[in-house]
Amino acid sequence: MKRKITTIVMALLAVAVVSAQQVLSPNGNVQVIFSLDNGGQPTYSLLYKGEMVINPSHMGFELARDKHANKGMNETDLLTGFEVKDYKVTSHEDTWTPVWGQYKSISNNYNELIIDLYQASANRNMTLRFRAYNDGIGFRYEFPQQRDLNYFIIKRERTQFALTGDHRAWWQAGDYDTQEYPMQVTRLSQVRNRITACASFDKPGAVGKRRTDYTEDRMRDAVVWDNASQTVFSPTGIQTSLQMKTDEGLYINIHEAELVNYSCMHLELDDKNMILESHLTPDAVGNMCYMQTPCRTPWRTVMVSDDARDMLASSLILNLNEPCKIEDTSWIHPTKYCGVWWEMIVGHGNWHYTDEFPSVKLGMTDFNKAKPNGRHRANNDTVMRYIDFAARNGLDQVLVEGWNVGWEDWANMWKEDVFDFVTPYPDFDIKMLNDYAHSKGVKLMMHHETSSSADNYERHLNEAYSLMNRYGYDAVKTGYVGDIIPRGEHHYGQYMVNHYNWVLREAAKHHIMVNGHEAVRPTGLCRTWPNLVGNESARGTEYEAFYGSNPNHTVILPFTRFQGGPMDYTPGVLETRLANWSDNQHIVHSTVVGQLALYVVMCSPLQMAADLPQNYEKFMDAYQFIRDVALDWDDSRYIDAEPGEYITVARKAKGSDNWFLGGKCDEKGHRVDVRLDFLDKGRKYEATIYADGKDANYETNPASYTITKKIVKQGDVLKLVEVPGGGVAIMIKAI
Ligand code: NOJ
Ligand code: CA
Repeated sequence: MKRKITTIVMALLAVAVVSAQQVLSPNGNVQVIFSLDNGGQPTYSLLYKGEMVINPSHMGFELARDKHANKGMNETDLLTGFEVKDYKVTSHEDTWTPVWGQYKSISNNYNELIIDLYQASANRNMTLRFRAYNDGIGFRYEFPQQRDLNYFIIKRERTQFALTGDHRAWWQAGDYDTQEYPMQVTRLSQVRNRITACASFDKPGAVGKRRTDYTEDRMRDAVVWDNASQTVFSPTGIQTSLQMKTDEGLYINIHEAELVNYSCMHLELDDKNMILESHLTPDAVGNMCYMQTPCRTPWRTVMVSDDARDMLASSLILNLNEPCKIEDTSWIHPTKYCGVWWEMIVGHGNWHYTDEFPSVKLGMTDFNKAKPNGRHRANNDTVMRYIDFAARNGLDQVLVEGWNVGWEDWANMWKEDVFDFVTPYPDFDIKMLNDYAHSKGVKLMMHHETSSSADNYERHLNEAYSLMNRYGYDAVKTGYVGDIIPRGEHHYGQYMVNHYNWVLREAAKHHIMVNGHEAVRPTGLCRTWPNLVGNESARGTEYEAFYGSNPNHTVILPFTRFQGGPMDYTPGVLETRLANWSDNQHIVHSTVVGQLALYVVMCSPLQMAADLPQNYEKFMDAYQFIRDVALDWDDSRYIDAEPGEYITVARKAKGSDNWFLGGKCDEKGHRVDVRLDFLDKGRKYEATIYADGKDANYETNPASYTITKKIVKQGDVLKLVEVPGGGVAIMIKAI
C-alpha cells in the first residue's frame, strides 16, 4: 500500500503541481495531499488506505466587488497566484470530557498540516490548516491580520470536493431556509431529476419555484412546498451533512464544524464531473460573508471509513470545535420532558387563546376582555394534568406552547413585534403553575417561538430570560417559523448564524439550556456551548401528523443531521394511529417498540415523551422503557449499521453499570445477533427486552409487542428480530 501512496504523490507532482505537502492520520489510513496547481491555486486530495476518496480539488474564494470592502479587494480574488511561504506538520493528542454525550471522554488525536500561503500580486497571506484524524479530515482557511487584507466580502467560496464516482447518497435538497424535506436515497446523478421534478428554475442562479405540473407526494418529494419559509436554490443543490457510499463500500460524509460568524455551507453538485463545491447562504444584498482579519472559516469536514459504524461513532466534528467556554456547567443536565404540544400539532387544540382578534398589537390588545375559543391548550387545568403525569412518571419537565400572547396572528404576517415572551394569556397562571410544578419536583420548560423576527427576539431576550430565572425555568425551546426579519435574510446566513450563537451565549449567562427549532443545522458547537442541548433542523415527529415520514427516515438522520449535534426529534408516540383519539387520519410510521428504540438510537441529552398522558395510560408497560432510559452516556458501542436500513447500538448509562440497547430499522425489517461482550466479566445482568410482536408491522399492527425479562452475562448472544418499521429496546441492568 505504501507504494500506491508514493505513486499517487509522484503522479500529482508530475502533472500540474508546483509543490506538494502531505499529512497522514495517526494510524496512517487517512492521508491529505496539498499542492498548488500551475496557476498557484491551492488544491488538496484525500486518500483512505491508499485509495483516492477526494480527487485533487481546488480551494479559494471569489470576493465581492463591493464599496464596503478594503481598497485592493476589488481587483484580486483569493483563488490563484499563491506561493507556499512556509509549512509544517505537527501532532496532537489529548483527551477531553464532554458535559454530556455518547462517551465519558473523547480522545482528540490528529496530525496537522499548516500551509502558509502568500499571494504576491495583492500582498496577502492566507493559511490553510488540515487535520488528519483516523476517521476523516477537517480543514479551514485562516486570515491573519495584515496591512493589505482587512475587510473583505466573500461572494463565493470555492472549496471543491471532487468525488471519484457517482456515489449512492442520502441527501436533502439544498435550501437557504429549511431542512425539513424528506431525505432522498439515490445516486448523485439523480439529484437533478429529483429536485426538478418538484421545482423549476427560470435561469441559472435563480431560486426554485413550485412546479404545478406534478403529482405531489409530500412523504417522498425532494422539495415539498408547504414550509413557512423555503428557498430552494439550485437543481443540484444539496445540504450537509451529506452521507455517501461508494460502489467499493467506502462511507464518506461531508459536513462542516464550528459554524461561527460565517454563513452555512451547502453543496452544489456538478453532475457531469461529480464535483461538489461549497455554496454559501447569501444575505439580503446577495453577499455571502463579511470578514475582518484576523478571522477564519468554519472547518470543512470529510469523514471516511469502510465501516458504516464509524460514521456514527465518530467525534470528529466535536473535536474540531473549541473546548467548553462555560466555566460552571453544573446547571446543564439531561432532561426528559413531556409537553402541551402534540395535541396542537395533531390539530386537537390551538396555540391561540381567542378567535375574536384578527390581529394583535402587543400592549394594546386586551386579552382579559376576549372570549376564549375553548381550544386553547396552554390553560391551567391542562398544564396541571401534564405536571401530574410528569411527576408520577419520571419526567423532569413539561413544555408548554401557546402560553404567551400573540398567537392569534403569529404566522405568515411577517410582523415585527409578534411576541414579547413575557405576557401570559389570562388562563395561564405563570406563578401558580411554576409553584405547582416545583412542589412536585418538576419544572416547566419555556417556549419562545420568535416567528422568525430575530430582531424582536433580541430586543426582548434579556427580559425574557430574567422572567425565566424569576420563575425557575432552566430550558427554552426557541422557534423560527416563517421568513426572517430583518427582511431578506435567510435562516442559514451569517446574520442568523450570529443571532443563534448570541442567543446561546446570552442564555448561558442566565443558566438556560437551549433547544432551537428551525435554526441552522448544528456543527458541533455544543462542545463549546453545552447549553445547546438540542436542535430540530430536520423533519421531526411533527411531520407524522402532517402527512408522514418514511420508516427509513429515522435510520438516516443519525448519519446526517446528528453529525453536528443532538436533535429534538420528539419520539415516544405510542398511540401511532392518530385517528384513535383525534380527527387526524395520519399514522406514525413506526411500531410502538420502534418508538422506544429511538431514545437510544438518537443520542440526545434532551428527549421528549411526545404523546399525551391519556395515550401513555394505555401503554404503561411499554412506557416503562421511556421512564427508565438514560439520556447521557459513559460509552456507546455500535453493533451494526447501514444508512437508511438499520442501526443497532448499546450505550452504557452515565455513572452507572446499566446498559441500554436500541435497534431501529426501515420498512424492510432487520435481524441481528448481539453478542454481549461489552458487559463486565463474571457479572450478572437482568435484561428487559421490548420486542416487536411476531405479527407486528408499522402499518397494519403497530401495537403488537412483547416484554420479557432474562438473566444475561458477558458473551451471551441475543437474537433480535425487528419487523418492518419496527425496532428493539432493551434495558440491561446490573444485578
Ligand atoms: C414548529 C416547531 O417545530 C414545533 O415544534 C412548534 O410547535 C411550532 N413550530 C410552533 O412554535
Ligand atoms: Ca419545525
